[in-house]
Amino acid sequence: MIVCVCHNVSDKAIRRAVDAGATSMQEIRAQLNVGNCCGKCASFAKTLVRAHLEDKGTAVTEVRRIPAAA
Ligand code: FES
Repeated sequence: MIVCVCHNVSDKAIRRAVDAGATSMQEIRAQLNVGNCCGKCASFAKTLVRAHLEDKGTAVTEVRRIPAAA
């Protein structure tokens, strides 16, 4: 199934990238350009990445930015 129409990226390609070591949507975006055009695929692609990481038993971590003090 094509996840990112703008860049013709399939769910299989995303899973392969995770299997090859990608651990975040940022890495998938950098490798495959997913979400770098219209952005409509980004939410589903992120869900796919998380689900595949969980299937693999890989811990999902998030890096949160702390807002600068005003
Ligand atoms: S569908 Fe992925 S960036 Fe447009």
